[in-house]
Amino acid sequence: MANKPKCGGYKMTTALITGGGQDSSYLAELLLEKGYKVIMLIRRASYPNTQRVDHIPEGDNFQMDYFDLSDTISIDNAFQKYMPDIVFNMAAQSHVGISFKVPESTINFNTLGVLRLLEAIRKYKPTCKFYQASSSEMFGISPPPQNENTPFMPCSPYGVSKLAAFHLVRTYREGYGLFATNGILFNHESERRGLNFVTRKITLSIAEILKGTRKKIELGNIDAKRDWGHSRDYMKAIIELMEMDKPNDVVISTGETYSVRDFLKEAFSLVGLNWEDYVVISDKQLRPFDVPALLGDNSKALSILKWRPEIKFKELVREMLDNDIRQVCHVSLKDIDGYRKALADFVDKKIVKELEHD
Ligand code: GDD
Repeated sequence: MANKPKCGGYKMTTALITGGGQDSSYLAELLLEKGYKVIMLIRRASYPNTQRVDHIPEGDNFQMDYFDLSDTISIDNAFQKYMPDIVFNMAAQSHVGISFKVPESTINFNTLGVLRLLEAIRKYKPTCKFYQASSSEMFGISPPPQNENTPFMPCSPYGVSKLAAFHLVRTYREGYGLFATNGILFNHESERRGLNFVTRKITLSIAEILKGTRKKIELGNIDAKRDWGHSRDYMKAIIELMEMDKPNDVVISTGETYSVRDFLKEAFSLVGLNWEDYVVISDKQLRPFDVPALLGDNSKALSILKWRPEIKFKELVREMLDNDIRQVCHVSLKDIDGYRKALADFVDKKIVKELEHD
C-alpha cells in the first residue's frame, strides 16, 4: 500500500486517531506537519476534554468526531464515514491503579475495543494499517531489562487487557494478513500528562507547594522503577514504525530506569526543597499488585528505525516542572527563587501590618 501522504492533486493519507489524550495530541500535530489528514475520535464527556488539541484548527485536514471503544456501532459508523488508510489506537482506560477498581470496563475498552477495531478493518478496509498502543505494563513482574522476547507476566487488569489486545493484533496480522503493529511503549510523559499519573502529580504538587496552596503530596509505592521517556519523542517513533513496509512488534524506551523516589529527589532539588519534608506515604495510593521495575531494551527499535530518544530523565523532569510552575505561579523555573522571596516578603509585610494594626 502506498502510504506516503500526497498533496497537490493526489489523495492525502487519512489517519484516524482514537482518543484525545497526551499521545493523541502530539501524534495529531506530527501527522498534520507531515501532510496527513487527521480524524480524531473522542469519547463524549460532560466536561470539556479537548484542551490538548484546542489549538489545532478544525478544517479539511483536522476533524474531530465522537465514538466509544465499547460501542461497535460507533466504530462501524466511523469506518464507513472516514474510510481511513491508517488507524492509531491510542484510546484506552489507561490508569493501571484504577483498572483494579474498574476491571470489567478496562477489559471492555482495552481488549474488546481493539477486537472491534480489527473487525471493522477486516470488514470495511483490509488495506488499512493498524497501530496498537501496547504497553510495558504487559511485562509485569518479568525482571528487567525487558525486550520483545521477554515473557509477559502482567500484574494488573490493565496489563492483562493490553496483553490480550497485543495477541489479538498478532492473531489478525498472521491470520488475516492485516498490517497490524504493536508499539510496546514504556512510560512516556510530558507537560500534557494526565494529572493522576505519578510524574505529573509530583510536578503539579510542587508548583502548588511553592504557591502556598498545598502542604503535602500523598503517594504510594515510591520504590517502583520506570523507564520514563517523552511522549512527543515516542510519537515520532511510532509514525516511523507505521511508515515501514512491514508490520512489527517493537519496544520503544529510553534504556534508562529511575525510581519514583529518584523523580521526587530530582524535581524537589530543582526548586531547592527536600522532598522528605513534603511526601506522605499513604495506603490509599498503593495498588494490590504493582510492577516493580521497568527498563526497556530498545535495541530492536534502534536497529530498524532512524529514531532515537531525544529527551531523557533530567530534561523531562525539568520540562514538566517548569510547565507546572508557569501554569500555577506564572513564573518560569529559573525565576522561582525571586518568586519565593517576593512571596515571603509579602507574607512578612502582611503580618507586620496586621500586628501594627492590632
Ligand atoms: N499514579 C500514581 N499515583 N502512581 C503512584 C503514586 C500515586 O500517587 N505513588 C506511587 N506511584 C507509583 C505506581 O504504583 C507505579 O509503580 C509508578 O508510580 C508509576 O505509576 P503511573 O504514573 O500511574 O504509571 P504506570 O507505570 O502505572 O502506567 C503508565 O505507564 C504504562 C507503561 O508502562 C500508564 O501510562 C499506562 O497507561 C502505560 O501503559
